[in-house]
Amino acid sequence: MKKWLIFLACLSTQLSFAQTEAPTAPPAPIPTDFVEEIWYKRALIYNLDVKVFKDSDGDGMGDFKGLIQQLDYLKDLGITVIWLSPFHPSPLEDDGYDVADFYKIDPRVGTDADFKQLIEECNKREMRVIIDLVINHTSNQHPWYQAARKDKNSPYRSWYVWSKERPKDADEGMVFPGVQKETWTYDSLAQEYYFHRFYDFQPDLNAQNSDVQVEIRKIVKHWLDFGISGFRLDAVPFYMEIPQSGMKNPMLQFDLLYGLRQYIQWHKADAAVLGEANVDPKETDKFLGKYGEGIQMMFNFYGNQYLFSALASENIETFKKALTETRDHSPANQWAWFLRNHDEIDLGRLSNEAREEVYSKFGPKENMRLYDRGIRRRLAPMLGNRKQIDLAYSLLFALPGTPSLRYGEEIGMGDDLSLKERNSVRTPMQWNTQKNAGFSTAAKTFHPVISQGDYAYQKVNVATQEKDQKSLLNTIKKFIKIRSECPEIGWGEWTILPATTSTVLVMQYKWKDKSIVVAHNFSKEKQNIQLRMAEWKGKSLQDLLNEKTVKPVAEGSYSLAMDGYGFQWFRLN
Ligand code: NOJ
Repeated sequence: MKKWLIFLACLSTQLSFAQTEAPTAPPAPIPTDFVEEIWYKRALIYNLDVKVFKDSDGDGMGDFKGLIQQLDYLKDLGITVIWLSPFHPSPLEDDGYDVADFYKIDPRVGTDADFKQLIEECNKREMRVIIDLVINHTSNQHPWYQAARKDKNSPYRSWYVWSKERPKDADEGMVFPGVQKETWTYDSLAQEYYFHRFYDFQPDLNAQNSDVQVEIRKIVKHWLDFGISGFRLDAVPFYMEIPQSGMKNPMLQFDLLYGLRQYIQWHKADAAVLGEANVDPKETDKFLGKYGEGIQMMFNFYGNQYLFSALASENIETFKKALTETRDHSPANQWAWFLRNHDEIDLGRLSNEAREEVYSKFGPKENMRLYDRGIRRRLAPMLGNRKQIDLAYSLLFALPGTPSLRYGEEIGMGDDLSLKERNSVRTPMQWNTQKNAGFSTAAKTFHPVISQGDYAYQKVNVATQEKDQKSLLNTIKKFIKIRSECPEIGWGEWTILPATTSTVLVMQYKWKDKSIVVAHNFSKEKQNIQLRMAEWKGKSLQDLLNEKTVKPVAEGSYSLAMDGYGFQWFRLN
C-alpha cells in the first residue's frame, strides 16, 4: 500500500486538534439514583435508513409509512431508540449526508404528518427517535450555497469558507482518500476556492459565522418540536474546526459544541446528543466534558478498531488496553458501542501490522477495502462463522455502554461489493422471500436488493428466521432480553478480571448490591479458565444463558470451560 495514502487516511480520521478554552467549573455531582433515570444509559439503539427499510407505496424507496408498519417488529426485538439516517431532500450523492433542505422531508420518504405519526407510534411503544444532524456541510445544491457562489455580496457568501488563491495544502486532509482528490476546490461561478472536508459536492459551512449558528439552532428546534429525543451529530470534530490553510492541527471551537448541547437541553430537558467523533481517548474529555457538560454520548470508534483487531488475532491484550483507555467519563455520559455501521470499519488507529492482520482475515480482497483505512463489508460475511458472529453480538451487549445495531445486522445480512464505496452495506432490509425481499413491490428499488449468493434474501430474511429458534435473529433477541435484565452494564463500575489466558475476556460489573460477570473466548479453541475472587466467597454464579448454577471448585474459586468462540453470562448471587 502506498505510504502517502496511509498518511492521508490517518490524517483524515486522526487529526489532532488544538482547542479553544473549555469550561472547567465542576457542577454538583450527579446523585447515584439519577443515573437510573438517564434513558440513554439503558437504551438499545437501532440505526436505519428509512429509504431502504420498508416501502409502503411501491415507488422503490422506503418511507415513514412503511417504517410505521414495522414498528412492532422493532419493539419485539427489544429496541428502545430508533436512530434515523438523513431523510431530507438531497441529491443523494452521499446517501443523504448531502442535505439540500434541512427543514424538509424528501417527499418520496413522507410528509411532516407521517413523521409526526411515526413519533406518536414510537411513543405508544415506549420507543424514542433520534435523527442525524449534519451541520458541518450542505449539499452544493443547497440554495444557500447556490446563492453564495453566484453573488459575492450575497449574505450567504460568508456562510461558507473561501480562498482567493489555491491553498498550498489543497490536496491534504481528505476524509475519503483515494476517491476525494482535494479539500479546496475552485468554483468557476464564485471564482474562488471553497473548503470541503468531505466530497467536493459538500461545501463546509462556516461555523464561525454567527448567522450560521442562529440557523443551526432553528434547525434543531424545528426537529425537537416534533418530539424527537435528540440527535446523532455528524462529523463532530470537523464541525468545530476552524479551517485555515496550512493548519495541520486545526483549532476546535468546543464552545460551539457545549452551546449546542445547552440549547438542545433548554428546549427539551432530556434530549441527548450522540456524537460521531473518532478521536484519541485523551481527547474524549473535551467532547463529553469533564463533568458531563459536553455531549452526552459518543461512539467508541477507538474501542471498535481494537475489537476487530482482537477478533482477527484471537488475542485480547490490545482490546483490554483500549477498554481501559476509554473507561473514564462522568456518570451522566455514555459510550455507544457498535460492531458495524453505515460506513466502512475505520482501522486507521491500529498499527500497520494489526491493520494488515484485520485486512487479511476480514477484508482479504482489494475491493473489500476502502479509503486505505477500512473495510466496506457487513459483519456476517466478514466473520463468516456463526459461532464467531454469536460471540461478537454477545460481546456487543456486554460492553460498558449503550449497544447500537445497524438494521439488518440482526439477521446477518450480507454486502454487495459491486456497489460503489460504502453503498455495499446499504442494501434494502430483507423481510421475507417475496419480490425485492418484501421491501418493495417496485420494478426497481433505490438501492438493489441482495438476490444472489449465500446472503440473498431468499435465504437470509426476517420471516424465515422468526420461525427458527436457533436463528441469529432469535439469538440476538435473547441477548437483548438478557442485557435488559442486567442494567449493571449500563450503569455500573466494571473491572477486567485476571483470566489465565490472553484469549478470554472476563468482565465484572457492579451496581449497588448487584453484580454480573461476563466471559468471552475470542479463540476458536476451547479454553479452561480459573477465576478466583476473595469477595466471591459464599456466593454462587447463576448462568443467565442456560439457567443453571455453577458450583465453586473451592471457596470463591470457579473453573470455567469455554467452548471455541464461547461466551457465558453470570449473575453473582
Ligand atoms: C459521516 C457519515 O457517517 C458519513 O456517512 C458521511 O459520508 C460523512 N459524515 C459526511 O457527512
